[in-house]
Amino acid sequence: MHEQQLVVRTPTPDYDGFLAYISSVKDQFLKKLEHEKATVFIITHHDADGISAGAIMALALKRQGVPFQARVVKQISAKYIGDIVTAKKQPGDAPPQDDSEPEKFFVFTDFGSGQLDFLGKNVKRDRVLILDHHEIEDVKDKAILSDMLHVNPWLFGINGSLEISGAGVAYMFAKAMDPANAVLAPMAITGALGDIQDKGDKTSLTGMNRIIVDDAKNLKLVSEAIDLKVFGRYSRPIHLALSFTTDPFLPGLSGDETACMNFVQRLRIPAKQANSEKPRTVSDLTKEEKSTLVSAIIEWSLKHGMSSTMIKNLIGNIYVLENEDLSTNLKDLREFASVLNSCGRLGYGGIGLAIAMGDRKEIFAEGQHAITEYRKRIANYMDWVQTTGAIKKRDNLQVLEGAAYIDDAMIGTLLSMLLTSRHVSIEMPLIGWATLKDDPETVKVSARSVQDLVDKGLNLGTAIRDVLKEIDVDSPGGGHAPAAGVEIPMAKLDKFLKALGKKIAVQLQSNGSTPPTPKKTQSWI
Ligand code: C5P
Ligand code: ZN
Repeated sequence: MHEQQLVVRTPTPDYDGFLAYISSVKDQFLKKLEHEKATVFIITHHDADGISAGAIMALALKRQGVPFQARVVKQISAKYIGDIVTAKKQPGDAPPQDDSEPEKFFVFTDFGSGQLDFLGKNVKRDRVLILDHHEIEDVKDKAILSDMLHVNPWLFGINGSLEISGAGVAYMFAKAMDPANAVLAPMAITGALGDIQDKGDKTSLTGMNRIIVDDAKNLKLVSEAIDLKVFGRYSRPIHLALSFTTDPFLPGLSGDETACMNFVQRLRIPAKQANSEKPRTVSDLTKEEKSTLVSAIIEWSLKHGMSSTMIKNLIGNIYVLENEDLSTNLKDLREFASVLNSCGRLGYGGIGLAIAMGDRKEIFAEGQHAITEYRKRIANYMDWVQTTGAIKKRDNLQVLEGAAYIDDAMIGTLLSMLLTSRHVSIEMPLIGWATLKDDPETVKVSARSVQDLVDKGLNLGTAIRDVLKEIDVDSPGGGHAPAAGVEIPMAKLDKFLKALGKKIAVQLQSNGSTPPTPKKTQSWI
């Protein structure tokens, strides 16, 4: 086993070391597959990054001629993957496999590094490959680290929250398997955008993601440009593209088709194409029209209380799939990510996987229902939050009590959206919880914060993990500094939130920042 696996973090990023390590793990992986003639089970996370990562590995294995199955799940725990990882003997089962029989080999993409202990206890360690970018769980049993094939940028001091996504790690691995897999670069970009890694200048991708963007551009698969970041640039009438735009959230426009229709009409921008009933899209606008639209949105947003930092995000780098049809909502890779996210979080991960792998026929059409349904639900939730006062202030954090109303798989996305809207304080982290549909005694907790607090020392992933230990809850939780989650018993929720508030104060204080308090002028829902 490569000794780097025992080093959890190096102080400075070692990019060459990481790539060399990927190549050595790839050799070990292929050797094991050849030797054991295993069927590979790809198990991947249910968000856009996870689905992109799963699709990349599926296509790479297909090219390699390795049989595989794939599953998209919420998280790694006995509840979601117990049936496949722990082969419990049932009455009437065939006798146990002997050594010559093909075995399962598990590839975990976009999670795994935070669930090492669970995997170490429940899966044959020599039949696991983890391709992840989440922060790495500190395990007591250090043998787990050396027994499993585990690829993660944090092992080489590379920031997995900002520089490379789960799909990016899967892509680097796939490219090491076969350079021809460079054609999968667009899906790695989709994953990075889905995980909001576009934190470079003008919402660009940076760090290792740049290597991937360059691969995609060199192959003429993706183009990059600075443009107005509306949703539906190529596929929707102008007013609908505006109303569908939620990142940033445009107060008084996002989600309100009539307001957007009036807004565009006032600008006297023709809504239909010349001599035709066909609606024009934002991509059809002339330079002058685009500049009129941009100025008007900026003026409106300032008037409606949006911060200038948020407004700046309206214009930025866009990543466009060159060979995608204009009519699909996949041409802009941020929209592609949104389609995959909708499928995954609504429980149609298989549909998302098929679309990410290239289906543009029946399955693609089914995916369109998912995105419509998802947007409808998010809009209802936004209304609900604003009308019910479901956000409560606690020490050092604010809490959205989604209870049984909000779908546990969507609470995280809703929090992100609330933070980009002006309705919620960005001075402190936003935590949300919702009960699980099939188990009301368990709650899904999600946590989100703006980058500013992360720069001041906040790390929600480690905060959640530390609190779980402190209050003695055995559940795999964590994530990234600005976004993390966990499932815990309802009975422990209050204790959890109290301890989390304290932990957040400590993180910010030890960095010399004052703990978060909302400004008096802040508007609360
Ligand atoms: O579930 P949610 O959207 O809130 O997750 C936010 C981040 O935290 C994601 O990157 C997810 O992978 C991570 N997470 C985790 N372990 C969990 C739940 C979420 O690592 N149990
Ligand atoms: Zn991810």
